[in-house]
Amino acid sequence: MTDIKPYLTIPLLEACNFRCVYCPPEGETYHTPKTVFLPEKICGVLDTVMAVGMTKVRFSGGEPLMYPHLEQVIDYAVNLGLEVHMNTNGYFLLQQLPWLQHYKDKITVKVSLDAHSNEALQAVSKVSKIERVIEGIRQGAAAGIVKRLNFVLTRLNADQIPGILALCKELGLGLKIFDMYPVPETEQAWRIYFAPMEVLALEGEAAPIDPYTQKYGTPTEELLVDGVPVRIKNCFNGTRYHAMCEQCAAFPCPEGLYCVQVTPSMTVVPCRLGLHLYRQCDDFTQLGSALSEIIDIYDTSYLAYDFGDKYQGFHDARLIELEGGAVADLEVIPLLGYVANTSGENIRC
Ligand SMILES: C[S@@+](CC[C@H](N)C(=O)[O-])C[C@H]1O[C@@H](n2cnc3c(N)ncnc32)[C@H](O)[C@@H]1O
Ligand code: SF4
Ligand code: SF4
Repeated sequence: MTDIKPYLTIPLLEACNFRCVYCPPEGETYHTPKTVFLPEKICGVLDTVMAVGMTKVRFSGGEPLMYPHLEQVIDYAVNLGLEVHMNTNGYFLLQQLPWLQHYKDKITVKVSLDAHSNEALQAVSKVSKIERVIEGIRQGAAAGIVKRLNFVLTRLNADQIPGILALCKELGLGLKIFDMYPVPETEQAWRIYFAPMEVLALEGEAAPIDPYTQKYGTPTEELLVDGVPVRIKNCFNGTRYHAMCEQCAAFPCPEGLYCVQVTPSMTVVPCRLGLHLYRQCDDFTQLGSALSEIIDIYDTSYLAYDFGDKYQGFHDARLIELEGGAVADLEVIPLLGYVANTSGENIRC
């Protein structure tokens, strides 16, 4: 476990064709200067990542399938020997599969799918065309490219879970369910749409937590639901912080130290809201030093449970939702009959 390094997220661009209620307008390029991420610069970032001993990279955005040089940067990352992951909303998968499928077994594509009906997709992401997204997932799964669906649980889509699970079962995919975390830009939406994991009525004995989330971020729960490997990320289970976090206005934030980002402006971002930990880099030497410094911070982080006691705003809002009945009227979605995933085959997040 000790040799696990934090993984790197690269938000390739800000732009996105979806407008999900829980997502800040800039996606994961949050709070850093806006600029175009040239592919040559991304390749330099990937070289630097290798040089500091990181082994896994996740392409994100905005919507990465809208990045014009995606094939070039994926090819470069794969040839360096990095473990390559990508998050996408899936809308452009059908168009991009002809080249993506050449990377079968070399990249892991995770599709964010918060709905299986057009009504729910419209409510969560302000787009329709669910058939197109699901057909992309279907063909991507058949090509061995799409491996998992990501689902952000909200009041708008809790009832979609059984349909999503059935799709995962049919296509042999894993499922990761996230609770919705608030950032300042989405706090208003969070107060309206947040739904606690309790609406899923999870029961039973969970398998051991994944080695990555045992060391970094929120410890996840691994389940097997009707044959589908399901990973639950519940921010209320606590997460990782560092002594430096105590200078942060957001301490203790919901996500903590989970994955490091390098944004298009060459800013190293150890966590979204910890602006004092951001490192602006002018060249790859500075980038290497900043990444090494942040890896040390991650490796000396600590797990804190029950942060709600300290972060009253976040905690109280949840209690108001629960006690005031706003969430109590949600139908509980039974995920009964699952057995713990004891196979040890965790799907890496
Ligand atoms: C910002 S998106 C970028 C990549 C791509 N557009 C997608 O949706 O997969 C990356 C991931 O962050 C998740 N996400 C964004 N805001 C979130 C929030 N407030 N709470 C939980 N997950 C969030 C999305 O669901 C998605 O899985
Ligand atoms: S598709 Fe991804 S980047 Fe776009 S709004 Fe939704 S979560 Fe954000
Ligand atoms: S936002 Fe970053 S610095 Fe602030 S508490 Fe969270 S992990 Fe720590």
